[in-house]
Amino acid sequence: MDKETSLEQLMLQSKKVFKNCFQREAKGIVSCPGRINILGEHTDYMGGLSLPAAISRYTLISYAPLKEKKFKFWSQSHGEFWETDFSLAKRPTKNWQLFAYGALSIVKGLLEDRPNDLPTIEGACFSIIGNIPLGKGLSSSASLELCLLNSLYDLFSLKVDPMNSIHYARRIENEFLGVPSGLLDQFACQFSDRNKIQIVDFKNLSMKQEHHQGLADWKWVCIDSGVKRTLGSSEYPKRVQQCEQALATIKEQRLEVSHYRDISEADLSYLDHNQTLKSRMSHMIGENLRTLQGFDALVKGDIPLLGKLLEQSHHSLRDLFEVSTNELDFLKSVATKHPACAGSRIMGGGFGGCTLNLVKADKIPDFLNQVQSVYSQEFHLKGQGFIFDLVDGVKLQQPSLQQPQ
Ligand code: GLA
Repeated sequence: MDKETSLEQLMLQSKKVFKNCFQREAKGIVSCPGRINILGEHTDYMGGLSLPAAISRYTLISYAPLKEKKFKFWSQSHGEFWETDFSLAKRPTKNWQLFAYGALSIVKGLLEDRPNDLPTIEGACFSIIGNIPLGKGLSSSASLELCLLNSLYDLFSLKVDPMNSIHYARRIENEFLGVPSGLLDQFACQFSDRNKIQIVDFKNLSMKQEHHQGLADWKWVCIDSGVKRTLGSSEYPKRVQQCEQALATIKEQRLEVSHYRDISEADLSYLDHNQTLKSRMSHMIGENLRTLQGFDALVKGDIPLLGKLLEQSHHSLRDLFEVSTNELDFLKSVATKHPACAGSRIMGGGFGGCTLNLVKADKIPDFLNQVQSVYSQEFHLKGQGFIFDLVDGVKLQQPSLQQPQ
């Protein structure tokens, strides 16, 4: 099991790192959590339903304005500086730098549309730290995007509607990192509420939040398969494309269909000639239904039903959407044999990353020991466990108010 650091400790660490890097005090700190997704996988880019929740792992950015016309970034996890001027003439090549470059480009665009008499800055410096495991499907990317954007909004005194902000964050991913992802991660990192469970409808970008029941004795545990995943170069873009093709094919046959949500089981026969596309749409229909049922189960405290839905979701992602791996299938089946586990499934984009498990809190050490020992015998991989509390979304911990030094 890995060690969790509290948000307060991380804030102190963030200020300290900033001071070491830039020899000045930070004027603001923004923190943004990662996320799990309870149900509703690969549904967001089809305007479907999901049940995401923010977790007690964070990215933090401390920042301050500069008189110098430079934007300077320090990434603690890469041990690197990167800087640029606001002309943004030179696009960086490293991924973490592209996030910063993307956020600056988007904010530059926003500044063009606002009146000239508002306060502005010449440059700024930023230190980035965090404890969201990278590349494990826990949304370290969306968390970084929202931290970068919010620190820039604050520095430039920009008022941005959070609903617009999640679209800007997604643009960083789509346009600058080249990953055609949906809005799931950004939505969860922005809007989650620690006391409630939320179902998100990506067709009209609405959400319903309700108190949940029955989870007091349970914890969400992620187990890392140890298989590294990068969505940009994986099969992820192919899945997005297959779904678009399936929708277009059905639309040609049935003119009433204009959106994925208009597709019913009966329409799947239009895809009989292409079993791959048929399976993708079949997953989508089932997963949307499971997400609705899962929300209900959480509100009513029906843990056995929730567990069953997690299982069904795994099978659908494995057999119909084909985004699982042998390692993830193995982890899931070992986990569900443990009496303290209500359900387990692959989580996030797939092709590696973590499983999500709902486990009786007092049995977690035994659960992890058992799963890890069988997993390491089979694959010689550790199967690291991560345990979370559910938390609120992005926060400006300390908005910037002071003058550049
Ligand atoms: C990744 C993407 C999300 C979503 C999930 C799968 O996390 O970033 O947009 O598609 O995969 O549910």
